[in-house]
Amino acid sequence: SVGSPRRPRLRESFTGRNAFILVAIGSAVGLGNIWRFPYITYENGGGAFLIPYLIALLTAGIPILLFDYAIGYKFRGSPPLAFKRLHPKAETIGWLQVGICFLIAIYYSAIIAWAAMYTWFSLTQAWGDDAEGFFFNEFLQYDAGGTEGTGISVDFVAQVGWPLIAVWAVLLVALATGVRRGITIVSMIGIPLLFLMFILLVGYSLTLEGAAEGLNALFTPDWGALTNGTVWIQAYGQIFFTLSVGFGIMITYASYLKRRSNTSGSGLVVGFTNSSFELLSAIGVFAALGMLAVAGGTAVDEVASSGLGLAFVAFPTIVSEAPASALIGVLFFGGLTLAGLTSQISIMEVVISAVKDKTGWSRVKTVALVGGLIAIISIVLIGGVSGVTILDVVDAFSNNIGIVGGALIAVVMVAWVFRRLDSLAAALNRFGSFKVGPIWKTLLGIVLPVVLSVLLVMDITDK
Ligand code: PFF
Repeated sequence: SVGSPRRPRLRESFTGRNAFILVAIGSAVGLGNIWRFPYITYENGGGAFLIPYLIALLTAGIPILLFDYAIGYKFRGSPPLAFKRLHPKAETIGWLQVGICFLIAIYYSAIIAWAAMYTWFSLTQAWGDDAEGFFFNEFLQYDAGGTEGTGISVDFVAQVGWPLIAVWAVLLVALATGVRRGITIVSMIGIPLLFLMFILLVGYSLTLEGAAEGLNALFTPDWGALTNGTVWIQAYGQIFFTLSVGFGIMITYASYLKRRSNTSGSGLVVGFTNSSFELLSAIGVFAALGMLAVAGGTAVDEVASSGLGLAFVAFPTIVSEAPASALIGVLFFGGLTLAGLTSQISIMEVVISAVKDKTGWSRVKTVALVGGLIAIISIVLIGGVSGVTILDVVDAFSNNIGIVGGALIAVVMVAWVFRRLDSLAAALNRFGSFKVGPIWKTLLGIVLPVVLSVLLVMDITDK
C-alpha cells in the first residue's frame, strides 16, 4: 500500500490495537523499570513510596501519556510534523525532542550490547570472583589488546565491537522493515517473552535464602518519607522516564494509529502494565539482593544499588552465589537485553520518522542513511573511545534536563500559547473508551507545568 507512485503515500499504520499496545509497552518497559525503579523505591521510603508513585502516575504520567498520544494520533506525524500541524510556529518543539532521542540512541545501544554479552557470560561466570574489577577494568578496557593492570588481554572488537554491531544490525533491520513488520514483530515476540522471563526470575528469586530480608528492606514503609519533598520529586521523575513521555516517542507511535482507535483506552493499558512490570522487577531484584546480603553476612543496604552497578556488578555476583546460577543470569540479562532493544527501537523511530516526514525519503533510505549514521557514531564513540564517560555525561543531560525541559516546553506551549487542549481532548474522546475532560485539562495546564518546573530547577541546580 505504501509507495505506489500514482496515489498519495499513505502513512503506515499498526496492524491492530494489540500491536500498538505491545509496541508502546516495549518502549515503556526498559532499563528504567529494571534497574532504576527498584532502587528509587528502596531509597525513598520503601512501601510508603508507592503512594507518591501512584499519585504521580495518575496526576502526571497518564495525563501526559494521553497528551502525547493525542498529538500523534490527531496530527498523524512525527513530532516535528505533528507540532507543525498543531501550529505553524511549533515545529521546533518537535525537533528538540528528536535531538534528545538522537543523543540517547547513541549510548543506549551500548548498554544493550553489554547486557547481551553478560547473558552469554552468565553461562560460564566469565567474571570469576571479582565482578566489579571484571566490568570496569577488563570488560570496559577499550585499548585493543590492552593488558593494563589486569594481566588479561582484551580484544575490543571481540568484546565490545561485535556485540554492538550485532545489536545495530537487529535495530536497523527492524526499523527498515517498518511499523507493521520489524517494529511490531520484535515487540510481539520480545515483550511476552520478557514478561515470562521475569515471572520465572521472580518465582526463582523468591525461593532463595534471604529473599525475605530483601523484600523487607524494599517494602518496609518509612512513612516519614511522605513529608519529604525530594521523595515526591523522585516519584514524578521516575514516572516521566518510565512511561517514555515528553521526548517524542509516544507521539511517533500514536501517529501510526488508525482513525478509529481507542487511543485513551490503550493509554491506560500501557500505563498500568508498565507499572506492574516495574513492581514485578523490583520484587525479583530485591529478593536476589537479599540472597546476596545474607550470603555475604551483611545488610541489604550494603549490596543495594542501581544502574550499571546493579546490573554489571551486583547481578554477576548474585549469579555466582545462587544455586542455579546460569539460570538467574540468563533470565536477568536476557530480559535486560529484550527490554533495552524494544526501547531503543522506539527512540530510533522518532528520528527516522522525523527525517522521513521532512524529506519524503523512503523508509529504507532513511534507515540506511540516518540509522546508519547513528550506528556508526555509536560504534566508534561508545565502543571505541570512552564509553562510560560519554554515557554518564549524555545520560545525565538528556535524561534529566533534556526530557523534563522538553516536556515542559511542549505542555506549556500547547496548553497556554497555542491553546489546543480542547481539540486534543475531542480527538481522544471521539473513539476512546476513557473520556478525558476538565480534570485532564487542569492536570496538564496547571499541575504538570508546576511539577515539571520544579523538576527542571532541581535537575539544573543539584546535578
Ligand atoms: N521508558 C524507558 C525506560 O523506562 O527505560 C525510557 C527510555 C529510555 C525509552 C531510553 C527509550 C530509550 F531509548
